[in-house]
Amino acid sequence: MTARGRGRDVSRLLSDFGHQLPRVATAVAPGKETRLFRYVPKRGKARAGRGWAPAKAPVVAYQMTSDQAPVLWPLIAGPGLPPTGAQMGVDVLSGSAFYADPLGWVLRDDVPCTNPNVFSMGKPGVGKSATTKVFCLRMTDFGYRTLILGDPKDEYERLCHFFGVEPFALGPGMLARINPIAFGPLALGWEHLSAQEAKARAAVVFGRWLTLVRGLVGSQRIGDIRVPFGPSEEAIVKVALRDLTGYSQANTTLTETTIPHLWQALDEPSDSLIEELRYADRRHFFDETRLLRDALGQLVSGTLAGLFDAHTNIDIDWEAPIQSLSLSRLDPLGDEAVGIALMCLNSWGRGMREVAPAGDLRIVVRDEAWKQMRLGVEAVKSLDADLRLSRGGVRKGGDIQWVNGHKPSDMLTVGDDGSQAANIARDLMHLADIKVLHGQKAAVAHELDTMLGLGQQATDVMTGWAMQRKGRALWLVGDRPFKVETWLTPPEHGLTWTNDALEGAA
Ligand SMILES: Nc1ncnc2c1ncn2[C@@H]1O[C@H](COP(=O)(O)OP(=O)(O)OP(=O)(O)O)[C@@H](O)[C@H]1O
Ligand SMILES: [Mg+2]
Repeated sequence: MTARGRGRDVSRLLSDFGHQLPRVATAVAPGKETRLFRYVPKRGKARAGRGWAPAKAPVVAYQMTSDQAPVLWPLIAGPGLPPTGAQMGVDVLSGSAFYADPLGWVLRDDVPCTNPNVFSMGKPGVGKSATTKVFCLRMTDFGYRTLILGDPKDEYERLCHFFGVEPFALGPGMLARINPIAFGPLALGWEHLSAQEAKARAAVVFGRWLTLVRGLVGSQRIGDIRVPFGPSEEAIVKVALRDLTGYSQANTTLTETTIPHLWQALDEPSDSLIEELRYADRRHFFDETRLLRDALGQLVSGTLAGLFDAHTNIDIDWEAPIQSLSLSRLDPLGDEAVGIALMCLNSWGRGMREVAPAGDLRIVVRDEAWKQMRLGVEAVKSLDADLRLSRGGVRKGGDIQWVNGHKPSDMLTVGDDGSQAANIARDLMHLADIKVLHGQKAAVAHELDTMLGLGQQATDVMTGWAMQRKGRALWLVGDRPFKVETWLTPPEHGLTWTNDALEGAA
């Protein structure tokens, strides 16, 4: 089949790759068939207007019928993504470079993506954090800054040092304090706000605090059961917060409060609070709020005492390329304590980003989010509320929320399958229009398939191809899958290296 001017056929293609097709004895043709097509020389015909080429293209040509072609070359090079944003590596199906540009995708009509949130999942050690770090690093070229809302392993410190930035360290005995119920920029210029505007801003601020307090209280346990936070508890906290900040007295400037102040207001309630909340007397109030007060007290005097119970005393530099809050000092306190710290930081960070100047492009990273998700349905709701912000953010400034988790069941453990809790967790996944699905074991890949309707081919990519090398992942941009291998440059290898402990042990 090597006649001049002809390509090689399918059997030759397969034999070039080591497969021999069984041969069928061919009957001798009785007569010469009339030729349907005439072969054109490789360089074309040397005539004007015929497309003659002076040199041969250095490619091997194979010839096959149109029904054979899609089997051997599944014609997958569909419309690719635009080459804008961070160049992550290679889209292995088309062989072209893969660029990630979440906000750019949202703004384009030809990419089926309506929010810039990214949910990245994968087995431990498959390269979730490394992919996050190089994405942040490469996006700085396009004016993005990064905010790491809690770094439980202090692994973003190298990236911070690369930019000459010192991360803030939170932990027992450290000086840094974060007030998760800080006002944030929404309180700026409060005295000049119209009544309507003040009301609208108050709804946002009090809503955020309530979601956080609900998450903090609801993540504590009595045996196997989480502490309930129903409408009565909500009313109590709402009224107390309004009193403490001076909002209920319609003050022109509001006073920032803290969780210990909130606890104190409930532990030593004023007569007006008891009356406003319609309790018969002090005793009645105490009896009805014991669980709530004890849960709040636990936050003030428990393992996280001295971290989130005073006014914020660190100064985030919003102009710096990166800012990070290191949490490794909390590690000895256990996963729950780290989860609660992440919840406080997430809510605080959301407050800080509620008003972002136009063009302030930021990537907000929530690594190890599974520690927060495991704290129960209220904690998942709190994360859910934090992520919803980015839609508004697109119009105001544009935050990309990047969340790293291990597996969907981290969220599903918050409730029985089919329960309201599991539905919230499932919805949370759908809040991110971009999913980066790294290597997974078969059972987890199956969970993801059930949740996202990925199909067999995509599931196989996660359990097979993506498991064979770090940095490989199936990127779902809207509903379009891309098989992407993230490549690290040698300096990036150093910045993303997280195997120090293993190296030491070897
Ligand atoms: N694309 C890549 N190419 C080469 N090495 C990589 C790549 N991605 C990650 N690595 C390396 O693999 C190691 C583990 O990666 P990483 O810490 O990002 O995993 P992870 O999924 O975040 O793990 P964990 O779930 O434990 O946080 C790191 O030392 C990193 O340098
Ligand atoms: Mg990681």
